[in-house]
Amino acid sequence: MASSFPHRHLIDIERLSAAEIESILTLAKQYAEQSRAPQKKINKLNGKTVVNLFFEPSTRTRTSFEIAAKRLGADVVNIPVEHSSSKKGETLLDTVLNLDAMQIDALVIRHSEDGIPQFVAPHMKSASVINAGDGKHEHPTQALLDAFTMLRHKKSLKGLVVAICGDIAHSRVARSNAHLLTKLGAKVRFIAPSYFAAPNFTNLGIETFEDMKEGLKDADVVMMLRIQHERMAEGEFAVSLKDYHQRFGLDAKKLAVAKPDVIVMHPGPINRDVEIASSLADDPKYSVLLEQTEMGVAIRMAVLDLLLSK
Ligand code: CP
Repeated sequence: MASSFPHRHLIDIERLSAAEIESILTLAKQYAEQSRAPQKKINKLNGKTVVNLFFEPSTRTRTSFEIAAKRLGADVVNIPVEHSSSKKGETLLDTVLNLDAMQIDALVIRHSEDGIPQFVAPHMKSASVINAGDGKHEHPTQALLDAFTMLRHKKSLKGLVVAICGDIAHSRVARSNAHLLTKLGAKVRFIAPSYFAAPNFTNLGIETFEDMKEGLKDADVVMMLRIQHERMAEGEFAVSLKDYHQRFGLDAKKLAVAKPDVIVMHPGPINRDVEIASSLADDPKYSVLLEQTEMGVAIRMAVLDLLLSK
């Protein structure tokens, strides 16, 4: 398995081959099973140290990396950034060089700026760098867990129509999914108001829509995105949330034009009754939101295993 994943770091989906993505998805299957077994822990990464360094808030990603590492027997250190020496003027590079000097095995990093994992990776002597989300650039493990969840409901990604809707412009999740899904043969659609459009994705063959009804027609998968207010200047988003929900929020009526067996996804955190109707987020007929969160642990176990057990 290790030879099918030759990378030392996981920086983005863009540079992975379809075969490398598939090797992660295949390995995650056994970890999804293991995570539902009464005995969840194995010793595969005994003696390894994983450090979580998150400069942005996180519920799912940080916790699931910690659970994943612990289920594989590794030790985990969470750095509370608000109490770290970055508050005393230490540069990011000095922070990560000092962590690396402690002979850690993995540095899981989230940052508001695009390109930070790629910037720090070449400086690491000891640690594999794993991107847990960098600005608007990529969130590779999110796209992997999304694909893994889709494959639990659909036979193949090949030919699958996946509509990604909402704040595409500020979304690292949309970017990572666009790369992954097109590499594996899915048909990706972006549905967004003009102020959230991402025009530079036409090279991946992505269809773009401004009208929910058109973009959702016959979709197999609908993935909703939160409005990323934290990536916009104050006052930049000038639409009322009620009006936004009316035009771009997913509800049962809009979803009716999709395939009857459509699944509804969202990376979380969700803003109920903004990008998604609260009732739909909780509707077990369509919603796989909590299954995505569960599969995030299996995917992160597979990624840690592939990177650290070489
Ligand atoms: N999907 C996701 O990245 O969620 P968190 O911000 O809670 O990690």
